Amino acid sequence: MAKNDFYLLYRGLLLPNIAHTEDSLKFLESFQMRDDDVIVITYPKSGTTWMQEIIPLLLNGGDFTPVLTIPNWDRMPWLEESRAAGLIDKLSAPRTFVSHMPYYLMPSSLFSSKAKGHVFFFHFEVIYVSRNPKDVMVSSFHFHHMAGFLHDPGTFEEFADQFLAGNVIFGKWTDHVKSWRNTDLGDRILYITYEEMIQQDLHGALERMLVFLGKSLSKDALRRITEHCQFKSMKQNNMSNYSLVPETVMDTTKSMFLRKGIAGDWKNYFSPELEAKFNKTISEELNGTDITFLWDE
Ligand code: A3P
Repeated sequence: MAKNDFYLLYRGLLLPNIAHTEDSLKFLESFQMRDDDVIVITYPKSGTTWMQEIIPLLLNGGDFTPVLTIPNWDRMPWLEESRAAGLIDKLSAPRTFVSHMPYYLMPSSLFSSKAKGHVFFFHFEVIYVSRNPKDVMVSSFHFHHMAGFLHDPGTFEEFADQFLAGNVIFGKWTDHVKSWRNTDLGDRILYITYEEMIQQDLHGALERMLVFLGKSLSKDALRRITEHCQFKSMKQNNMSNYSLVPETVMDTTKSMFLRKGIAGDWKNYFSPELEAKFNKTISEELNGTDITFLWDE
């Protein structure tokens, strides 16, 4: 099938039309932020589902009920998706949601406090999670195979060309990360990497998020959350592993949604030539920024 059968073009971005409609994008544009909202931003395949597990646990004082009873897409909906309109206003405070949008396509209410000069009352919080783009691409390649609502990615090399050109959902990876590095959000935005959560110290990353969110938890509660959010145990949670989704939408015989959950899987896929091309393109596009990634780990 042609790409156009799967996507809607919105201000230069390809969005899957299974979940994005003109109405859902109007909802996004006119969305009114509240002071106590918590938003997680990711480029697709960077750890969104993981954060949909972590944030409700941190904000609910370690109560596991929401993550064990509510599917991740209802628990922390996507702001730009068609489900958002019916869901977000019904969420109890603090409302939590996720978005894959670049900064410049966020609703104008996100910028308005500053515009009014009320920067000191600018309270909502944003957590931006990024991941090594090589692993993002590998994860996305598998996701395109299993997701019935995305185009056939072709060979890995062909998909790499589409990825580097930004001819994929939510556009170019470098545009996304750069847009969220240059914000007016000051200390209202926290940057976390997938790699620090996985390779270094999940417990420490959760502590950083807690401090940022102005919350505290007992040592025991934080230990239980850390254990629950490990890949192996999260994979067992039917409310988060996408097993509730019909096979026509996500075919788990082709790939699991919670697939490998590791850093460095790219080494199993990249030829030396592709690695050189990828590094060159990404580093040229990040030139002049202070964005660094754990390229080789
Ligand atoms: P892989 O395909 O590399 O396994 P998103 O939710 O943004 O679509 O990202 C999906 C990626 O995050 C998948 O990567 C998935 O396995 C990984 N992921 C989800 N939960 C995780 C966890 N608890 N630990 C490590 N990786 C996790």
